Amino acid sequence: MHSKTVSIFGLGYIGLPTAAILADAGCQVIGVDVNPVAVETINRGEIHIIEPELANVVARNVAAGRLRATLTPEPADAFLITVPTPFEADHQPDLSYVKSATLAIASQLKAGDLVILESTSPVGATEQVAAWIAELRPELQVPGHSDQPNIAIAYCPERVLPGKVMAELVSNDRVVGGITPDCSLRASELYQLFLQGECVTTNARTAEMCKLTENSFRDVNIAFANELSLICHALDIDVWELIQLANHHPRVNILQPGPGVGGHCIAVDPWFIVSQTPELARLIRTAREVNDSKPFWVLDQVKQAVADCLMANGKTASAIKIACFGLAFKPDIDDLRESPAMQVAKLISEWHQGETLLVEPHIRQLPQTFTGKATLVSVDEALQSAEIVVLLTDHKVFKALDKSQLTTDFVIDTRGAWRN
Ligand SMILES: NC(=O)c1ccc[n+]([C@@H]2O[C@H](COP(=O)([O-])OP(=O)(O)OC[C@H]3O[C@@H](n4cnc5c(N)ncnc54)[C@H](O)[C@@H]3O)[C@@H](O)[C@H]2O)c1
Repeated sequence: MHSKTVSIFGLGYIGLPTAAILADAGCQVIGVDVNPVAVETINRGEIHIIEPELANVVARNVAAGRLRATLTPEPADAFLITVPTPFEADHQPDLSYVKSATLAIASQLKAGDLVILESTSPVGATEQVAAWIAELRPELQVPGHSDQPNIAIAYCPERVLPGKVMAELVSNDRVVGGITPDCSLRASELYQLFLQGECVTTNARTAEMCKLTENSFRDVNIAFANELSLICHALDIDVWELIQLANHHPRVNILQPGPGVGGHCIAVDPWFIVSQTPELARLIRTAREVNDSKPFWVLDQVKQAVADCLMANGKTASAIKIACFGLAFKPDIDDLRESPAMQVAKLISEWHQGETLLVEPHIRQLPQTFTGKATLVSVDEALQSAEIVVLLTDHKVFKALDKSQLTTDFVIDTRGAWRN
């Protein structure tokens, strides 16, 4: 085995579970992060993120001396980069975190070492990592810059599901793309220390594009469902019944519409393709636009419901209460980051003159982004006092509601969970 000491740059939702699993597989793992709180927490054997099954694995490996965290880079046999790759205001990928991690790694590299970029990245990012290393360490034989490389550089994207990271890190298949075939082989050897899934090798550019393709595929298919929901509304057709019927076709499998697309992968990664090939990625761009516009369409439905409600019961707008059911970006979790449900609830609370009641059984207090007129309430309180009810997240507890409790005529069900 080439890589006994492994250093992981970026100890977040991807890096820390990977570090813990590599330590469990017997490696000496040095985690490097720029966040001192994360470093101190991990060195106490604790975790600073929420992920089931992670705490125990970190605790036992820190206690066994196989895992520790630091703010300062140290020599290792293999270096993994799991830092953020957000996009800038104009949807261009921001590789500044990858660059600073690469420069820190370059300062520690010696012949025989392996560097793997795992962060979701635009095509060409791994070659860019190689170029930064070659520039900083001209005495090393860098793949792509030398005929006889003495270090290996590869890309290996992550495709785990938050909430199941510890299981999926081991069981999912991995795509490994080296700058050269030998780089792919070297990287595969590292993953095979813990991987039960298949390790499939290709080149770096294809592996980068593979990750972007997976999330764009999801985005385009959700956009199709979301667009159908708009069309069906205009034509007075129940979109969920329609999709159920169409999916009886043996080769049709339409996804479900919703209030938009959330999470920090599906809503971000397709832009990396669009930014590199804007003339060609027409469908991918349009899908992003369709999904990004859906929360505003839901807001329009709410505005229409308020107008209808005013007509029906003669109240003033400020006396009308709107209840939003769900803030999390998917069912039965507490994660509000990049959630379209949060976006819709915020849009409603900022627009509506009356009170906005927010029902999210998985949190204890509202995020500070909500202003005065929004209140966190129980399911019962919302059902008793709201004139307008908007379902945004299909939590089990909402789906299980007795429909007779929904006494108002003004129900906007963005998930199709309350259909008869
Ligand atoms: N979270 C997911 O479900 C998921 C899934 C697939 C792919 N990804 C991709 O994996 C990458 C990491 O995502 P994440 O969710 O783990 O991010 P995160 O924000 O949870 O963690 C990133 C960590 O990197 C640290 N960091 C920033 N700059 C650094 C530097 N120069 N050196 C060392 N550490 C540094 C941060 O302090 C942070 O702790 C991203 O590219 C993301 O798109 C994430």
